[in-house]
Amino acid sequence: MCDNLRSMKPAVLVTKRIFPEAIAFLKEHADVDYAESDDGMRAEELAVRIRGKQAVVSQLMDKFTPEVLATLDGIKVIANVAVGYDNIDVPAATRHGILVTHTPDVLTDTTADFAFMLLMSAARRVVEGHHFVHSGQWTKWRVDLLLGQDVHHRTLGIFGMGRIGQAVARRAAGFSMRIIYHDSRRAPEAVEKELGLELVSAERLLREADFVSLHVPLMPETRHLIGARELRMMKPTAILVNTSRGPVVDEPALAEALERHVIAGAGLDVYENEPRVDPLLLKLENVVLAPHIASASVDTRRKMSMMAAENAVAGMEGRRPPNLLNPELWEKLAGK
Ligand code: DGY
Repeated sequence: MCDNLRSMKPAVLVTKRIFPEAIAFLKEHADVDYAESDDGMRAEELAVRIRGKQAVVSQLMDKFTPEVLATLDGIKVIANVAVGYDNIDVPAATRHGILVTHTPDVLTDTTADFAFMLLMSAARRVVEGHHFVHSGQWTKWRVDLLLGQDVHHRTLGIFGMGRIGQAVARRAAGFSMRIIYHDSRRAPEAVEKELGLELVSAERLLREADFVSLHVPLMPETRHLIGARELRMMKPTAILVNTSRGPVVDEPALAEALERHVIAGAGLDVYENEPRVDPLLLKLENVVLAPHIASASVDTRRKMSMMAAENAVAGMEGRRPPNLLNPELWEKLAGK
C-alpha cells in the first residue's frame, strides 16, 4: 500500500500482548502499534507511544487517571480487555470526550466456574491433598485424613448479584445450596425465584453464610468491603472466595484472620497489590491462591481480546462501540 493511503488509516496502540486474531483484525482496520510483551507499559512510555493514535487497547494494569486522560489528545476510545474497569476513571474520560469500553458477558460463566472451583477447592482441601500426595506423605488411608467441609446443602452468601454473581448462584443451586445475597440493587424477581435467592443485609449474610463469594466491582464504596470487623462476623467454619478485585478485601486483615482461624479458609484469585501477595498468605495452608486467572480459558480470553479489538475499531471508525461504559458521551457526540 502506498504511504498516503496507509496514512488514511486510523492508528491504535495495544499496550500489552493479546490474542493474535485480535491483532489481525485490528490490522485490517488500522495501523497497529503493538507492545507485544507481557510487561505492560510505564506511564512515560504510554505517553509517548499514544501520540497520534485514535484508540488504545488497554489492560487492567494500565492506569488511566484524570491526569493521564488529560494528556490523551486525539484518543477517541479506550478499549479495556476486561469486564472490570477500575483502572480507568470513566467520568474523567467522559469529560475528555473519550469513549470507554469493556468486555462483559463473554467471561461470565468462565469466571463463575472458577469462583465455584475455588470454593470447592478450599472446602475440600484439594490443594493440600495434591501437595500431600506429591511430597510422598501419603502412606495410608485414614478415616480423618484431610477432612473438609461439605458444600452441598450449605449456605452461600453472594455479595453482588450481577452477571457473575448470578452465574455463581446458578452453580450453587445445582449443589442444593441455600443462597442469600447482598446488593444495593435487587435481582430481577424471576431470577430470585428461579434460583431461590434471598436478599439480606450485609451483616446477616456474613453471620449466616458458610461460604461468602465476592462479585462486586471495585469502587470507593466497595474498597475493603471485607475487613477485620466483617471477618469477625463470619462463622469460624466459613470460607471466603474473592474473584472480583483484590482491594475489596483488606488483605493483611484476611491473612491474620486465616492464621488465627477466625474463619476457616479462603480461595483467592485477586490481591490488593498484584502481583504482590501478602507474605503471610503465602505461608498459610488454609488458603488457595490463584494468579488472577478466573477468566483465563482459551476461548474466553480469545473472545475478550476480539471484543476489545471490535470496540476499538468501532470507536475509531465513528460507530457506537458495542460495549460502551459511557453511553451518555456517545449520545452527545452523535448529537442526540
Ligand atoms: C476482568 O475481566 O475484569 C478480569 O479480572 C480480568 O480478566
